[in-house]
Amino acid sequence: MKAGAVFPSTRRVDVVELAEPKITSPNEVKLRMLEIGVCGTDREICNFDYGTPPGGSEFLVLGHESLAEVVETGAGVKRFRAGDLVVSMVRRPCSHADCVACRSGRQDFCYTGDFVERGIKECHGFMTQFVVDEETYLNPLPRELRDVGVLIEPLTIAEKALIQVNLVQQRLPWGCPASPGKSAHYCHRAVVLGAGPVGLLGAMVLVNSGFETFVYSRSAKPNPKAALAESFGAKYISSMQYSTEQLVEQVGQIDVVYEAVGASQMAIEVLQVLGPDGVFVFTGVPRHGDPVSVDTDLLMRNLVLKNQMVLGTVNAGPDAFDAAIRDLGVFYQRWPAAVRALITGRYSIEEFREPIFDRSGIKNVIVVNGNR
Ligand SMILES: NC(=O)c1ccc[n+]([C@@H]2O[C@H](COP(=O)([O-])OP(=O)(O)OC[C@H]3O[C@@H](n4cnc5c(N)ncnc54)[C@H](OP(=O)(O)O)[C@@H]3O)[C@@H](O)[C@H]2O)c1
Ligand SMILES: [Zn+2]
Ligand SMILES: [Zn+2]
Repeated sequence: MKAGAVFPSTRRVDVVELAEPKITSPNEVKLRMLEIGVCGTDREICNFDYGTPPGGSEFLVLGHESLAEVVETGAGVKRFRAGDLVVSMVRRPCSHADCVACRSGRQDFCYTGDFVERGIKECHGFMTQFVVDEETYLNPLPRELRDVGVLIEPLTIAEKALIQVNLVQQRLPWGCPASPGKSAHYCHRAVVLGAGPVGLLGAMVLVNSGFETFVYSRSAKPNPKAALAESFGAKYISSMQYSTEQLVEQVGQIDVVYEAVGASQMAIEVLQVLGPDGVFVFTGVPRHGDPVSVDTDLLMRNLVLKNQMVLGTVNAGPDAFDAAIRDLGVFYQRWPAAVRALITGRYSIEEFREPIFDRSGIKNVIVVNGNR
């Protein structure tokens, strides 16, 4: 069977032939991979900035955003049977007995850094025709989400962020005054930085939760990402057209920032205009660049005098996968065209390098099995 792989030692990115995997223990499930999403992490791995093959292998099979169909189950598997659709979790626990996060099934909060990640760190990914995985890492996906289920994994990033924002804000009276027919967050304003897949999915989560949601990103209007954001009820503001001061004039008090831009200078500028009691969530992983100067007195005064919170978030746990599967169903009912429009290109496994090296579109997908 074919797989998309990267050879870091020889700096090669190529299709490889692998033997089809077999179930070897009762809790395993054999999956026919359907679609694999491509993202910036794959791009970094293929630029040899990131990514580690499993021990003893000279290559790493790519792919961490997956959608698959169960073809066979081990004797002990209870939750799945052949034909079910599933989305796999990416990160697998470290082996340290004292890592309470991993020992509690929350390897997304691993303390040691010795976790492995499928398609990223020391474990082959999903960009291949068949995969055998353990039942515990699989999430069932309703059949109605077959066409867009590959968006679940990137959506979990925003879901984990919102779960944490809601937990953190239990520190204060945060609920909006009760108002018949209005959603829980109708009085809150959120700014999403960046209009890539992570930002747009984050904006969908926020709009759907009732936040008045603004997407603040580079490209001037009109552009397809701005049109997409506005089609599901967010407002788009271009950072090329409006400064952060002008952003605040348009938004008013900013209660939540969901950063999905990976540009640290722009993000820190927006942190400086976060409102009282606000939460700023960082998801971006910037490349290391030249140091820039920041008004640290202003930042620290704001954090203290305005009771602000800053949190970083990576990967996602089972609660975020459950939320993503539930919410993608809701989004697909509410905004079917917008959800479909997030997937801008579908490629065969032989063409997998194209969407990795060409940055156009929003979410590009490798169709491993099934129709393109
Ligand atoms: N924490 C996690 O678990 C996790 C998981 C996956 C990804 N990420 C991170 O999330 C971030 C976003 O990912 P993505 O795949 O959505 O990225 P992407 O497709 O590259 O999109 C980035 C967006 O930010 C905008 N942008 C870039 N630089 C900007 C600047 N200086 N000022 C204003 N806007 C700027 C781009 O604008 P244009 O549209 O005009 O180009 C684009 O809309 C990345 O940093 C990635 O590493 C985090
Ligand atoms: Zn990804
Ligand atoms: Zn751990």
